Amino acid sequence: MVKLVLVFLALAGAALAIKWGSATASFQIEGAWLEDGKGMSIWDAFSHTPGKIVAGQPPGDVTDDFYHRYKEDVQLVKSLGHQTFRFSISWPRLMPSGRKDFINQKAVDFYRSLLNELIDNGIEPWVTLYHWDLPLALETEFGGWRHPNISLFFADYAEVCFEKFGDLVKHWITLNEPWCVAVLGHNTGEHAPGRGSHNLAQADDRVQQATEVYTVGHNLLLSHARAVQVYRTKFQAAQNGEIGITINPDFFYPLDPHDPRDKIAAERALTYAVGWWADPILFGDYPLEMRETAGSRMPTFTSEQRDLVRNSTDFLGINHYMSHLITHETDPTLAPGFYADRGGMLLEDPAWPKTDMGWSIVPSGIQDILEWIAARYGAVWPGMPIAITENGVAVNETADEAGLDDQARIAYLEGYLSHVLAAKANGVNIQAYFLWSVLDNYEWAFGMSKKFGLVRVEDGTLRRLPKASARWYTEWIKKQPQ
Ligand SMILES: *[C@@H]1O[C@H](CO)[C@@H](O)[C@H](O)[C@H]1NC(C)=O
Ligand SMILES: *[C@@H]1O[C@H](CO)[C@@H](O)[C@H](O)[C@H]1NC(C)=O
Ligand SMILES: *[C@@H]1O[C@H](CO)[C@@H](O)[C@H](O)[C@H]1NC(C)=O
Repeated sequence: MVKLVLVFLALAGAALAIKWGSATASFQIEGAWLEDGKGMSIWDAFSHTPGKIVAGQPPGDVTDDFYHRYKEDVQLVKSLGHQTFRFSISWPRLMPSGRKDFINQKAVDFYRSLLNELIDNGIEPWVTLYHWDLPLALETEFGGWRHPNISLFFADYAEVCFEKFGDLVKHWITLNEPWCVAVLGHNTGEHAPGRGSHNLAQADDRVQQATEVYTVGHNLLLSHARAVQVYRTKFQAAQNGEIGITINPDFFYPLDPHDPRDKIAAERALTYAVGWWADPILFGDYPLEMRETAGSRMPTFTSEQRDLVRNSTDFLGINHYMSHLITHETDPTLAPGFYADRGGMLLEDPAWPKTDMGWSIVPSGIQDILEWIAARYGAVWPGMPIAITENGVAVNETADEAGLDDQARIAYLEGYLSHVLAAKANGVNIQAYFLWSVLDNYEWAFGMSKKFGLVRVEDGTLRRLPKASARWYTEWIKKQPQ
């Protein structure tokens, strides 16, 4: 009997083993910003706008030059023993105007070659359709994510991707971190296209921005859902892949765990981070507390939209980096919009170490967010598959030999990965884990100044130099059940 149980557990364990790999995004690594027919993206324009990128950093024209070096980089990923590799397709590289009037064959060739290179080397590709580099033409001509027709353009783009690449891709992610697109892109303005209420003097404009953030959120959800509909109706049966969406919740702990008001603030912050996206997909509507607070600024789903969005995912992607403490008190000086609506005030425990981004390192947070999500949606989807599509750390590394000994990254990973395994042991159905990132890369408004890589990309030469953490992760993967 004992033996049978053990055999069963071994088989179940083998079937359910987590796949381990690393993640990237087109704008952050490709470079070749105007080569081979690529159109401009909103991040090309933003990173060329004075004052948008931290002082001393270049625009994202070259970054890691992955477009020219992908074959060597795939060999590097293989040599590190990664089982999976997540990358995104650049929409304006494939469709320079954003529309299907012209498909750039050079881009088709590039991504097919990359996919074949990965597959031939035993690495499973996971492909993101949108990792923030919207074709600039759609922004300037239509207002990008603000225009209701964006979901039609996105579905067209997705269909071209399924048609051109779907024979090689078994795992699609529609959108990466829609929260960032809505809040950072259209509420605070820290990200492209840089629209924000935080600097507006006019009260009317500020209210408009506080509305826009939810309009954009709505259009993002509809875009995701239309792409999934196209995949499910036209491609999934033949191509036999799965498709999901990636959200980016932090975890929130009540400042005073015995104060019910702080506990409510923490639950509310989690609901705003997760439920904004996952509730419409799994429950069929935005969270009640979001609809009540935002009132008429929050779009409502028509019944057709509700049916489209509901159940529009085969798995949930989670990007997780940090946690916060939160109190029920709200900062009255906040500009209108997402943060004011969410309420609460964030604090960081002084005992928590900080990454070079200033993000608090709280290893238990990844387990707590995974278990919170599994519990919230367990009623409608017990055992919902989850992929951790990003997790990692920026380390302040010196540019010399000593900087390659990144013990701080190893310590972060030891902590976070042990809690990933604990969440799995507690029943969260984790299918894959992607470390952000394999290479140092272009960290958005921070340019090349923040180092997230297992592998250094040397300034100037762009030479790839593995750090101590690269070897550590390779050994760690080998020790996991396969
Ligand atoms: C938006 O889509 C509708 C329906 O297809 C179409 O009639 C309209 O012209 C489109 N507007 C733009 C700006 O593309
Ligand atoms: C949700 O979608 C999955 C995958 O297409 C399907 O198997 C399942 O039956 C759907 N569930 C509902 C409630 O529609
Ligand atoms: C990074 O470390 C260097 C010293 O090695 C220091 O001068 C610099 O201020 C640090 N940067 C940050 C953001 O902590």
